[in-house]
Amino acid sequence: MPAMIAPSILAADFSNLKAAIDMINDSEADWFHVDVMDGVFVPNISFGFPVMKTLQTHAKKMLDVHLMIIDPDKYIEDFKKAGANVLAVHYEVCRNLHRTIQAIKHHGMKASVAINPHTPISALTDIINDVDIVLVMSVNPGFGGQKFIQHTFDKVLRLKQLIIESSSKAKIEIDGGVDLDNALPLIRAGADILVAGNTVFSSPNPRETIKFLKDPL
Ligand code: DX5
Ligand code: ZN
Repeated sequence: MPAMIAPSILAADFSNLKAAIDMINDSEADWFHVDVMDGVFVPNISFGFPVMKTLQTHAKKMLDVHLMIIDPDKYIEDFKKAGANVLAVHYEVCRNLHRTIQAIKHHGMKASVAINPHTPISALTDIINDVDIVLVMSVNPGFGGQKFIQHTFDKVLRLKQLIIESSSKAKIEIDGGVDLDNALPLIRAGADILVAGNTVFSSPNPRETIKFLKDPL
């Protein structure tokens, strides 16, 4: 089964954001991946609502918003209003994750929980039936263009097992360092959605790259 592809807009040329949005609109990509960083949870600051507004106006596909911020609860409604369809919050910052997940769903968005490379799959046992997506970080969050952490494969296999054992409907999304070589093994390990930033935007033909990542056979 082909994977869903969510190109990360963080890797786009911001001097021509509209061109990047049009490229994704016209490609086989499924979602826009939107990385919001606060400089506190991660050592980088990306962008916020003004960029969301541009995406909301021009994007013709779902906005998969990845919040790398310390207090996501404060902004759930704002991101809904800004056009988010999927909202990912980090496990590591949520003191009441169950409540946060319910609030995201209450606002009509798909609820995604993101886990850092050091966070064990076992931490998800009691939330796996409540989330729509688990966003497995395959790099330490904060920057695009980093090297894929190989241990992610082992985590994906264990997450897939947890999902099956719990009869959960959660999808597995992989974020960070996804490339032309690891896409197929990731899909085979159980990944449903692949985020790709640099692999898409630094390639000579981003549309073709998206097509390949989707069904890399
Ligand atoms: C990292 C972000 C990723 C990043 C992916 O903190 O969450 O979504 O943009 O970029 P690549 O595919 O270049 O690693
Ligand atoms: Zn991301």
